[in-house]
Amino acid sequence: MTETLDLILKRRSIREYIKEPVTDEQVDALLRAAMAAPSANDLRPWAFVVVCEAEQRKTLGKIHQWSDMCAKAAVVIVVLGDPETSQHWVEDCSAATENLLLAAAGLDLGAVWVAIYPHADCEASVRLLLEIPEQFRVLCLVPVGHPAETKPPRTRYEASKVHFGKFGKMAKGG
Ligand SMILES: Cc1cc2nc3c(=O)[nH]c(=O)nc-3n(C[C@H](O)[C@H](O)[C@H](O)COP(=O)(O)O)c2cc1C
Repeated sequence: MTETLDLILKRRSIREYIKEPVTDEQVDALLRAAMAAPSANDLRPWAFVVVCEAEQRKTLGKIHQWSDMCAKAAVVIVVLGDPETSQHWVEDCSAATENLLLAAAGLDLGAVWVAIYPHADCEASVRLLLEIPEQFRVLCLVPVGHPAETKPPRTRYEASKVHFGKFGKMAKGG
């Protein structure tokens, strides 16, 4: 239990990577973790594109102002969702993405969630580059690499966001 909680706190957004490949086995482990996520009615509306090629990563790095780490990462995993399969595709694919980020932290890899959804222009650029069928929506990009920066584990716990019994009741009991 403590190990699980430690891993959750250890996961941080890592945006700097050293030049070292991520192995096929590691990518496989990340995808297996992603697809272990819960999904509404177990419909699993996700699909993933694994992008290793430098030119493609460079283009993803220019998708928007905060995507530049895609160019430096060893691999970028693109998370897709299929609204025809499930109306809960955003929630399901977000759960898969968080699992992927946690697995990366567990493997001592660095990763970060790079938003695509709900920005239509960014989605169109990714769709064109990776030849993604119209049926799928693009949730996010996850650049993954060996970390070149360290960040301390932390929670963002705020007692003011916790209510007991009724909204506005800030203490248990009483
Ligand atoms: C939906 C979502 C979109 C995000 N988009 C980006 C992004 O485009 N670029 C980026 O560098 N970080 C992005 N992040 C990462 C957040 O900036 C990061 O999680 C937040 O600053 C907290 O830091 P931590 O992940 O280290 O705890 C995104 C996170 C989420 C959940």
